[in-house]
Amino acid sequence: MIHAKNIHKFYDKLEVLKGVDLHIKKGEIVSIVGASGAGKTTLLQILGTLDKPERNSDSSLTINGKNILNLQDIENDNSKQERTFKIITWTGSVYIVILAVYLLFFRTKVFDDTLRLVVVAALFLPIISMLVYYIKYFRKKSKQDKILSDFRNLNLGFIFQFHQLLPEFTALENVCIPAFMANKPKAETEKEAKKILDYLGLSHRINHKPNELSGGEQQRVAVARALINKPDVIFADEPSGNLDTHSAENLHQLFFQLRDEFGQTFVIVTHNEELANMADRKLVMVDGQISN
Ligand SMILES: Nc1ncnc2c1ncn2[C@@H]1O[C@H](COP(=O)(O)OP(=O)(O)OP(=O)(O)O)[C@@H](O)[C@H]1O
Ligand SMILES: [Mg+2]
Repeated sequence: MIHAKNIHKFYDKLEVLKGVDLHIKKGEIVSIVGASGAGKTTLLQILGTLDKPERNSDSSLTINGKNILNLQDIENDNSKQERTFKIITWTGSVYIVILAVYLLFFRTKVFDDTLRLVVVAALFLPIISMLVYYIKYFRKKSKQDKILSDFRNLNLGFIFQFHQLLPEFTALENVCIPAFMANKPKAETEKEAKKILDYLGLSHRINHKPNELSGGEQQRVAVARALINKPDVIFADEPSGNLDTHSAENLHQLFFQLRDEFGQTFVIVTHNEELANMADRKLVMVDGQISN
């Protein structure tokens, strides 16, 4: 399901991940524990394609057979294009200004009307080529950005410590959003969302907004939102960090129930010892590496 090899990450000069190797199988619940600052969130963000690792010749990250680093390379190509884009804009603009000033103030009398017309028309050539470049560039960029975000939206689910539900939408609407982003039909999506919310014991709260729900309920809505596109894997970063003991236990039971009934894969970063020990495998991060 997930294969990560020799993952490194620097924030400026700080090396946060120092060569992480990881293999997660389908239907597994893997917990990641470790001291604050060990690099757990950073690793989860990279596995979840929300952040990019350093590029080393022997680094790799595949999720469900898809080479994530290649998808992100497309984004890197975009940043090269962005530089070209800026250079063209600046040189084009400088050229236009210099030529316009020259024609207007120094050489206008030398040209007869026809010649002046030709020269002025020629001024538009760099403008037109700039426009064509811009249109092509933005079309390509938005198409390529979409490849990675579509992959993320369709294959990966996320649960964070703070639910990150949208406050102006109801529980049902919040759950439906990732499916709408994937252009799934409204009626079918709502039916599926209601089914999941019902399964999570929230059928009586679907029309309430997040601030009208308890912490445990909000977090279960976040679980429903993570499930709506039937992701291959759900990444959770301290999912119960903000809950009381009872709600936390309920949420943990839910993860195992989802794994047992639907084979849902989870990677969970947690400071909760009990949850970490219940997992099929507990990985301990020490100073940017997974210790054995
Ligand atoms: N965007 C960033 N820019 C610079 N440094 C960062 C950034 N994100 C994280 N760090 C640093 O990287 C290190 C690892 O951070 P990370 O959030 O991965 O730790 P963690 O193991 O999740 O810790 P915690 O258990 O407290 O959540 C920390 O020293 C942190 O300060
Ligand atoms: Mg963290």
